[in-house]
Amino acid sequence: MGVDLDRSVDSVIDGVIALQRAIHADPEIGFDTVRTAARAAGELRSAGLEVREGIGRTGVVADLEVPGAQRRIAFRADMDALPMEEETDLPHRSRNPGAAHQCGHDAHTAMLVGAARALSHLRDELPCSVRFIFQPNEEALPGGAPAMIEDGCLEGVDRIFGMHVWPLLDTGRIGLVEGPAMAQPDIFRITVTGIGGHAAAPFACADPIVAGSAIVSALQTIVARNIDPLDAAVVSTTQFHGGTADNVIPERIELVGTIRTFRSEVGERARARVVEIAEGVAESLGCRAEVAMTIGYPVTFNAPEACREAEEAISEAVPMTRDVQPSLGGEDFAYYGREIPAAFLFLGNRDAEKGIVHFCHHPRFVVDDAAMPVGVRAWIALALGAEGQLG
Ligand code: NI
Repeated sequence: MGVDLDRSVDSVIDGVIALQRAIHADPEIGFDTVRTAARAAGELRSAGLEVREGIGRTGVVADLEVPGAQRRIAFRADMDALPMEEETDLPHRSRNPGAAHQCGHDAHTAMLVGAARALSHLRDELPCSVRFIFQPNEEALPGGAPAMIEDGCLEGVDRIFGMHVWPLLDTGRIGLVEGPAMAQPDIFRITVTGIGGHAAAPFACADPIVAGSAIVSALQTIVARNIDPLDAAVVSTTQFHGGTADNVIPERIELVGTIRTFRSEVGERARARVVEIAEGVAESLGCRAEVAMTIGYPVTFNAPEACREAEEAISEAVPMTRDVQPSLGGEDFAYYGREIPAAFLFLGNRDAEKGIVHFCHHPRFVVDDAAMPVGVRAWIALALGAEGQLG
């Protein structure tokens, strides 16, 4: 007996798009995903799933139990928005100032709810039980995944999969990278202290703005001169704070930035060089630098066996490609992959004709409506498993 995937997707897709728009209009940040979680939990419960709320503070875990199944796989969506403003003309654009779903987590949540609803009607066809995990706080350290794991969301789970809308891949396809798929994102904060004073008398000061500028320039040499070109790394200074007046040299400035790497040795090297350069350059200019380093999410590693399973289950239902690059973005899905075999899929979300070209975190990033049925279809196919189940 086969499953009509088109019908399964069709039966839920209007609800998926409506849910994505509702969540998009009402974005919540960090662990404060209360209304989003309640929406998801309500729909999951009405589909007959066993739902637990308050997991990992504001996360939701829903189980679709298949009697007699030997295995359980888990699918994970994130629910949090970003602390930024949206600049789209969407009718359902964010109505919460300072919060916007510019990373597509609204779509992740809606697609997974839709897949759960569709799969609840296919219980008899499922070869394994399926757990649906909705987590808060993907976007900010320490992440939401550790709290979810702490609360037992992986107990009894053999394998886990995640999916992210991917603006580097055309809508309609799914990309898969085996091995390191997303980077470890570390954060550095450099405080440069000098001697403030009158802007007309710089010789009587030690100017931390000049030292900070020199540090930003010198940090460029880490990737260019200290890292093997066959290893990937990024060092970006993203904030430069200091000064209050046009005629005052400030006492101190602060720089903030990120280091992205795929291998721990490379990360160690880059972090050490940030400290050495900041301290050395500041000292040479009569200032003092203090560096605070925050270690980010681990590298997101796609286990070969999980990649194989995803490919076998999905590729007949949705075109898949391995011709995608790993990303230097960070992703707290990495924590699940440290516990059990995991794979993180990239869902194509690009259509130049529709103007859908902006990367995640851009103020004009939008989710392609046409990508959502593809994601739902992929989840359903993955749950149903290897060939033979699909008609
Ligand atoms: Ni994201």
